[in-house]
Amino acid sequence: MHYSRIMPSSGDHRYFTSTAVFLNELVKLSLSLCLAINETSESLAPDTPITTLLEQVYNSVFGGDGWKLAIPAAGYTLQNLLQYVAISNLDAVQFQVLYQLKILTTAIFSVTLLRKQLGTKRWLSLVVLTLGVCVVSMPTNMTGSFLSDTSDSFFPRSIHDMGTASPELYAPKNLRKRSATYQGVTEDLGPPEPTMNYSAGVIAVLVAGAVSGVTGVYFEKLIKEGPSQPSLWIRNVQLSTYSLIMAFFMGILYQDGTGIREHGFFEGYNWVVWTAVVLQAVGGMVASVVIRDADNIVKNFATSISIVLSLLVSVFLFDFRLTWTHAPSPDTRSPTETHSNRQLGEAGGYAFAHTSP
Ligand code: C5P
Repeated sequence: MHYSRIMPSSGDHRYFTSTAVFLNELVKLSLSLCLAINETSESLAPDTPITTLLEQVYNSVFGGDGWKLAIPAAGYTLQNLLQYVAISNLDAVQFQVLYQLKILTTAIFSVTLLRKQLGTKRWLSLVVLTLGVCVVSMPTNMTGSFLSDTSDSFFPRSIHDMGTASPELYAPKNLRKRSATYQGVTEDLGPPEPTMNYSAGVIAVLVAGAVSGVTGVYFEKLIKEGPSQPSLWIRNVQLSTYSLIMAFFMGILYQDGTGIREHGFFEGYNWVVWTAVVLQAVGGMVASVVIRDADNIVKNFATSISIVLSLLVSVFLFDFRLTWTHAPSPDTRSPTETHSNRQLGEAGGYAFAHTSP
């Protein structure tokens, strides 16, 4: 996801994240509908007409308490939109680690909403994990890049400054034009580049984590409690139908309406963006199976493994340099790095494989 946000796009603009959230729901709706139809057909006689089959699926989706799925649909849509804000402004590993705070919120909501009992060992694990999250985010706070930096930490900063990226390779033709004014003369410093706002990223990931906890537990409550339950795929069709509507109004119209009208729905799309969309959709469907067969807490512990995976992928994809706190150590920095990108190195733990001269 992060790579899809920073790689060069073919158009004038990076892709609009709300379109990715919308397409993600469309993919999930299509797959869940196929699975629901297949499942229903297995429960009917082989010579049942297709119209009867479709009618039965339609009744299961729109009958009963299907409207209740509108609530988790709103939560998941907000979470997915915020996730893109966060991943556009933080590096992949930092996003993953901070996002794990959802483990704590999920546990709290599981205890209060689902009345689950958590043993001492489990609470202890949650606390250890939370401490781990604090340690990894520590360098940025201690060096003042996020909380007390007196320079430009609260202003958007460029990806170009975060390491040694080649502007030709990493700068989509969007956002600000780089220029500097000295003694009244404005000098063009090269192509425009995307910016990363660390504070916006941190706020977005923390809110997304909180929303993830409450929404996941509410979804679990819906599919596990109550007298007669439709199948998971019917529930997922209901969820995606409402999510599509929410993604359309919250994302496509409200968040990105002006830009999409100007540049078009598929502006900036390439195979990397499509890969991110499909991975998100498949990941969401797998998450729903885990919530059904285990629970949200188990799902969260399992996804913690993805911290390790995204770290490894970041090493290859972004030349991420690993130290005990994830920040690059001074001796691994390029001699061409400036004071400001040193701060950003600490904030983002970032470097790129391709270096500019
Ligand atoms: O980060 P978290 O584990 O809470 O993310 C869960 C993801 O799974 C969300 O992106 C949500 O849209 C997706 N999901 C889904 N279908 C479900 C439940 C969750 O696609 N039934």
